[in-house]
Amino acid sequence: MALWSGRFEKSVGSFTQAFGASLPVDKSMYSQDIKGSIAHAKMLAAQGIISRTDLEKIEVGLLEIENQIEQGKFRFDINDEDIHMAIEKTLIEDIGVAGARLHTGRSRNDQVATDTRLHAKDLLHELLTQNCALRGVLYAKARDNFDVIMPGYTHLQHAQPVLFSHHMLAYFWMFTRDFKRLTYALKAADANPLGSAALAGTTYPLDRQMTTELLDFDHPIPNSMDAVSDRDYLLDLEYACSVSMMHLSRLCEEIILWSSTEFGFITLSDSFATGSSIMPQKKNPDFAELTRGKMGRVVGDLVALLVTMKSLPLAYNKDLQECKEGAMDAAKTLHDCMVCMEGMIKTMELHVPEMRAAAGKGFTAATDVADYLAKKGMPFRQAHEVVGNLVLYCEKHHKGLEDLTLDEFREASELFEEDIVSSLDLEKIVRARKTYGGTGHDAVKVQMEEAKQVLNAD
Ligand code: ARG
Repeated sequence: MALWSGRFEKSVGSFTQAFGASLPVDKSMYSQDIKGSIAHAKMLAAQGIISRTDLEKIEVGLLEIENQIEQGKFRFDINDEDIHMAIEKTLIEDIGVAGARLHTGRSRNDQVATDTRLHAKDLLHELLTQNCALRGVLYAKARDNFDVIMPGYTHLQHAQPVLFSHHMLAYFWMFTRDFKRLTYALKAADANPLGSAALAGTTYPLDRQMTTELLDFDHPIPNSMDAVSDRDYLLDLEYACSVSMMHLSRLCEEIILWSSTEFGFITLSDSFATGSSIMPQKKNPDFAELTRGKMGRVVGDLVALLVTMKSLPLAYNKDLQECKEGAMDAAKTLHDCMVCMEGMIKTMELHVPEMRAAAGKGFTAATDVADYLAKKGMPFRQAHEVVGNLVLYCEKHHKGLEDLTLDEFREASELFEEDIVSSLDLEKIVRARKTYGGTGHDAVKVQMEEAKQVLNAD
């Protein structure tokens, strides 16, 4: 018999009961539900709405239920619809009339909003911690391979040589912005709907400030109708997760490329690769691919919630039951992908000579050759044209810029002198990019310092 069966003459069929239930999803919020109920009961007692004896019984009863759930002894029954009713029903069975007083001045509408916010906050704290762990590994990989040179790309074509550490730190900053987005979602979740009851507040003299403090929320939500129907904080969570998954998918894509025979820049640790059931030689970057692929489901979670929320009239509607699963999925997916990526980056092996050799291919010194001419007085646009012609010449003769003789250079421009050879040196090219935020060794050192400080502060 449902706890709300009073005005009904027939119960729903077993299919419909299961169809309407959220228990399989929200049973993971049992501890938040119990925490919320204890806070509510304490407040009811403090306000003289229930007796101290009832409060004691409720508290002991709820903690016992928590114990039972944690030991796997609690019998979940789909007929209870959700975790809120499952716990309340068992509490009434266990402690009798005191249990039946717990729901005074409360509705499942403010109860589910409270539990979901508490749960979202817990998930976000875990995500923030894991985000820092991932950034820590990116930082360490950059520090430990500080002066490794690799090709920098635009359009996936060789552009200019860069430091590998600079490349890693680019991801460090992406995940730093994700940290900010997750922190924002945490702030959005940090408000207390409890005491809003079904939608309009209640006739009992509830102390919403007290439950706010007991549940460690920042403030009570000022409008009861908004309080029971707002799920913006889950959108914020899912958006933050989506952007972070997008960043992970970019990193994964590079890892997949780098570990290919064509690039040959890295070898993944055996613990982060898989073999083929037919091709004995294969070592596949499965986990990077899977992470790249999982981006789709997290964005799906975000879009699904946006569409669920569209056009919902105030206040609570059962549609809102749909909002929890996607948010939990988005958070768990991002969390697990970050754990995986942390290990993958930490253990991947760099092929330094191969990276450096690749950095010299594809005329990556061309910009610096043009700069060489410009520094000798030739207008940059003209220098660009001269070097473009040199590249064309090289391509026709199957040469690199470094293979050209001084005579060949001087054929293109009289301004070339002996020192052109040293200006083709990769190390020198990289080092010369000293501007703040550039890939030069000195600039990256400054950046590393900044990254360290930001990470320590988060
Ligand atoms: N199972 C519901 C949910 O997850 C709880 C709130 C139900 N309230 C109601 N009036 N049906 O959203």
